[in-house]
Amino acid sequence: MEQALASPVALRTVRSSLRIAALGTYLPERRLTNADFAKMVDTSEEWIVSRTGMRERRISREDEYTSDLCVAAVEDLRRRGGSLDEVDYVIACTITPDYYFPSVATQVQRRLGLHGVGAIDVGAACAGFVYALDLADALIGSGRARTVLVVAGETLTKITDYTDRTTCVLFGDGAAAALVTQSDAASSTLLARRVDADGEAGKELYCTGLRPEISGIVDPARRLRQNGRAVYEWAVTHVSGGIAELLTQAGLRADDVDWFVPHSANGRMIESICKRSGIPLERTLTSYELCGNTSSASIPLALAPALADGRVRAGDRVLLYGFGGGLVECGLLLRWS
Ligand code: ACO
Repeated sequence: MEQALASPVALRTVRSSLRIAALGTYLPERRLTNADFAKMVDTSEEWIVSRTGMRERRISREDEYTSDLCVAAVEDLRRRGGSLDEVDYVIACTITPDYYFPSVATQVQRRLGLHGVGAIDVGAACAGFVYALDLADALIGSGRARTVLVVAGETLTKITDYTDRTTCVLFGDGAAAALVTQSDAASSTLLARRVDADGEAGKELYCTGLRPEISGIVDPARRLRQNGRAVYEWAVTHVSGGIAELLTQAGLRADDVDWFVPHSANGRMIESICKRSGIPLERTLTSYELCGNTSSASIPLALAPALADGRVRAGDRVLLYGFGGGLVECGLLLRWS
């Protein structure tokens, strides 16, 4: 895993009018606190807080699946004024779908009674939401869709190994829904974008499926596995390098970023990324403290409260950076509209 940051794929930042018009969220009721883990595995409140910053996370009911969480997040989006009338595409991002198939997107489409829409799942782990925004932007920008409903939902606790203290304390369940439309802003709302992938390192963070082995590791248990140290080093190097590239693309400095919303994998790791990138921690929005790592849902779960209380405003430069299993990453620097 010790490797220099690969030269990023050169990608054109095309003119874009990407806009998140509304956002909704949902968290299951039941909480898992650090004290609960101290009764289950050899760990402590002090270890979890000092290594991760996490205090609690939510756990879905046995009969509650990802599409249920996503539909509840859409209901919240509607309560906040989002309308589904113009939706012509549904993108669901998740690594914990209800079924191999049909997709979560089709289950959401069915439950919401949407007709004549495209529906597809995106499998990009913790980078899922940002990848889905990038794809929604491409669909809208090319005229193939006008309004895309992006749902990000995870029931990670259903694939967590509660005998493995190195992973079980980290993950939680949750969902978010975003209505992606066209902005009428005169200038591009997308200031810079970056995507990258390294399947070679997939073995550092995985959950096996039909194939019970990955890169020579035989693991038929179908549980989430992570080489925490390796992923930590990869993320800190790649995300801080990726941010530098995005800023260069946009002709901006770290200080010009109003809000940084990284995947909420771990507080200590985010502090380290901020330090390397020069982005003040106070301008970072996170959800790990009360939700744990909710994979694709973590970025919108961090954004939603800041939008609701008016911290994130039109005109702000918002840097979304997802990274995770694959390994994959996707960063979008947006002018909020
Ligand atoms: N309680 C107590 N001790 C623990 C626990 C725990 N819950 N977990 C691990 N330890 C122990 C280890 O066994 C080890 O003990 P040893 O030295 O006796 O072997 C010691 O703590 C240090 O272990 P490390 O793994 O080196 O601990 P580290 O400080 O790296 O923290 C952590 C582990 C929190 C997992 C960190 O590495 C991390 O956050 N990694 C990145 C996670 C991430 O970003 N994932 C990204 C995407 S997630 C996705 O895509 C689904």
